[in-house]
Amino acid sequence: MYVCIRIYNIFFLYAVTRMSFIEYQDIIQDGDTAIVYLGHDSMFPVTIQHGSQTQTKYGVMRHSTDLIGKKYGSKVTCSKGGWVYILYPTPELWTMNLPHRTQILYSTDISLITMMLELKPGSVVCESGTGSGSLSHAIIRTVAPTGHLYTVEFHQQRAEKAMEEFRQHKVDHLVTVKNQDVCKSGFGMSHIADAVFLDIPSPWEAIGHAKSALKVEGGRICSFSPCIEQVQRTCRALEGHGFTEINTLEILLRVHDVRTIRLQIPDLGKPLEDQASPASDANDAPKPMTYSQDACSIFKSGVPPRETVGHTGYLTFATKSLF
Ligand SMILES: C[S@@+](CC[C@H](N)C(=O)[O-])C[C@H]1O[C@@H](n2cnc3c(N)ncnc32)[C@H](O)[C@@H]1O
Repeated sequence: MYVCIRIYNIFFLYAVTRMSFIEYQDIIQDGDTAIVYLGHDSMFPVTIQHGSQTQTKYGVMRHSTDLIGKKYGSKVTCSKGGWVYILYPTPELWTMNLPHRTQILYSTDISLITMMLELKPGSVVCESGTGSGSLSHAIIRTVAPTGHLYTVEFHQQRAEKAMEEFRQHKVDHLVTVKNQDVCKSGFGMSHIADAVFLDIPSPWEAIGHAKSALKVEGGRICSFSPCIEQVQRTCRALEGHGFTEINTLEILLRVHDVRTIRLQIPDLGKPLEDQASPASDANDAPKPMTYSQDACSIFKSGVPPRETVGHTGYLTFATKSLF
């Protein structure tokens, strides 16, 4: 009897502390998805497995001895002496590192989508297409622990792969993946969604289904399209179905890099008060400039990049109102 209880307790402890994209866990465990961080522009995801090893440019990491049991955020030394950090996965890190099966949405657009759709814990959201699941992970994290995402993808392998990743990331209880054409069959449910998101080539064909999926009392919709002609057709469809507050935005990110700046100090001549007046004596005669031609000021500053990141797509938002 005693042995049974002990085994049950160990299993329970293991079950409640497994890695999940929606809550933090301190210790790296077998089966986790972790992010290997080599530098801010060099990261990759890894599935932690007893007996496995991962190659990096700094040498090998052995999962059993170098990773499992260590804290997330640890600095891990690889076999050639270089080191990496092992990071806990978040939707933002996943977006930067996920395997691309399609074009994906990035955190700049995702942040605006989340805010303008008014998503919060408990929200019910319908999405199509699922694609590589970049936006899906962010939505799931926002609506957890009581909300739900229904995501529709008509490409069978993509739908299956997304479901596999949701299971691996321990968020599958918060998401339902449907393999169907949203323009023909819709989301497969009526009047349950607080918000609908579309990232498909012909969103105007899905607006009627989106309206049916939204709650009777109303909700918000967003459609992402790279081309303005798609936006025009979507806006017309939204208007035709009685949506209000239709507006289209484009969000462009301009990051500033920290650089060391060297500025030559200009030779502005001598200050006015030093200039000789008629009353001044010989000792007050103007002195020669003493500034060195090479004098320069060195300081750190934030500078915008020479090339600005270009257009990703237009985000069209609208409201379904009760009246
Ligand atoms: C650009 S990807 C979506 C990317 C996704 N937003 C992300 O962040 O990873 C578009 C996806 O929509 C799917 N799709 C296109 N038309 C569809 C339709 N009528 N019904 C369901 N899925 C569709 C495609 O197969 C593709 O996987």
